[in-house]
Amino acid sequence: NGGRNLIVVSNRQPYSHEYDGETVTVDRPTGGVTAGLDPVMRELGGTWIAWGDGDADRAVVDDVGRVTVPPSEDSSSNAVSSDRSRTDDREQGEYTLRRVWLSDAEVQNYYYGFSNQVLWPLCHSFLGHVHCDGAFWDAYRTVNQRFAANAATSASDDVLADTTIWIHDYHLALAPRAIRRQLGSAVDVAQFWHIPWPDWNTFRACPRRQDLVRGLLGADRIGFHTNRYAENFLECVSTAVDDAAVDWSDRRVRYRDREISIRAIPMGVPVDDVAETATTAEATAFPARLRAQHGIEAGTTLAVGVDRLDYSKGIPERLRALESLLDDTPDLRGDLTYIQVGSVTRETIPAYRAIQEEVADCVERLNDRFGTDDWQPVVYTTAHLSQAELFGLYREADLGIVSPLRDGMNLVAQEYVAAQGSDPGVLLLSRGTGAYDEFGEHALALNPCDVSDFATTIEDALAMPDDERRRRMDGLSRAVSERDLDSWVSQCLRQDGKQPRVRHQPT
Ligand code: G6P
Repeated sequence: NGGRNLIVVSNRQPYSHEYDGETVTVDRPTGGVTAGLDPVMRELGGTWIAWGDGDADRAVVDDVGRVTVPPSEDSSSNAVSSDRSRTDDREQGEYTLRRVWLSDAEVQNYYYGFSNQVLWPLCHSFLGHVHCDGAFWDAYRTVNQRFAANAATSASDDVLADTTIWIHDYHLALAPRAIRRQLGSAVDVAQFWHIPWPDWNTFRACPRRQDLVRGLLGADRIGFHTNRYAENFLECVSTAVDDAAVDWSDRRVRYRDREISIRAIPMGVPVDDVAETATTAEATAFPARLRAQHGIEAGTTLAVGVDRLDYSKGIPERLRALESLLDDTPDLRGDLTYIQVGSVTRETIPAYRAIQEEVADCVERLNDRFGTDDWQPVVYTTAHLSQAELFGLYREADLGIVSPLRDGMNLVAQEYVAAQGSDPGVLLLSRGTGAYDEFGEHALALNPCDVSDFATTIEDALAMPDDERRRRMDGLSRAVSERDLDSWVSQCLRQDGKQPRVRHQPT
């Protein structure tokens, strides 16, 4: 097929194997990165290197740690099988998943430690949540080297000059440099940073900031969702790394005889797939079932929010705005139901346990204060929903509320838009998201920190005239379609001065 060999490297794996008694089942984790990259890998093929965190993961791999991910989206127990290694006559939609193993101490110090108690809060500007322990950095470095060694081994099976190694996110900032050291300049290395990159005034609080930036500069190009993050990164390079030269007009960094290009490439969603999935029988059945289960009457307005239970997502702020709205506008009581889907995440970290409790408390308070025998103001679930169920819910919901305090992009906002039909809903979008920087002018903007302003924005959304609602959604649909997942992939993989030569089937 003449395309490039693609090796994707990320901390989180797209599928994990778990024991359910004697049987092995397959789980799909939540989070934008794996959800976005899985369809990409199904289309392009290649190898995906990620942490094998499932308790049955070791039981299903071949002797070099690989499993083959086959074409169907079947989530039953054999969706990923180990009985075939990669073959040359690759079936359409198949790719190889290669797992990296971590010890318990590494998980603690690299994943829960440096990644999620230093870099995550720092990049989301929550300096009060940054906690750095002495053991964090060593584990972060060791694990980054292990990922890099795995990528290097996978790459050397192939022709190096025809290989692109595509590294994802803040867990693996040191991997580009480590790969460069092992494989030299022939291999093409791309990095995409999925979370915000803060300005220097915030980034300077980062322990090991210079090592981190030098690690990233091992890549040929580094992608961020927005211009703001790309410029913040350049500012940090020019301030923290004395032997790097920044060319602001071209957004390039000259560092140790190499040129690194810094790009703003907003990640998108597979718009057509979302639209199609949102109308399947599984999708339409879900909101109907939810209405029946919770006695939500046909005329009731539905609002929805879907988030990992993370302090950056602004969920308590959203619930407080709703409470203030119901306090001040008694007419709305009985007419509006808010559905919050929350997925539990990183729960060994105290700040995450605290947010789970706070969200549960806010929901309980709202339902206690305003709920009646016939009406429950908030329906809250932490159950795992399939993509079809989620997209069906988005399509049915009159309001989609996306209110993070900070968010690199937020793909829920884009999926909400892509799932709408001929009678679309209203997207309420926080100014703290990358999504707002990209297409916020068509959404109803909100500030999650200002309760009364947030409550007024919900009220405005409820009262929005039909023509305005349609006009805004048209603008959003156009913007989301223009920057869909395919265009993000081609731009991320495009080498300087070259067209992408990946196994890409334009649709
Ligand atoms: C964000 C990060 C991803 C991460 C996801 C889920 O979207 O950018 O890299 O995978 O959250 O978080 P988790 O800690 O479960 O991988």
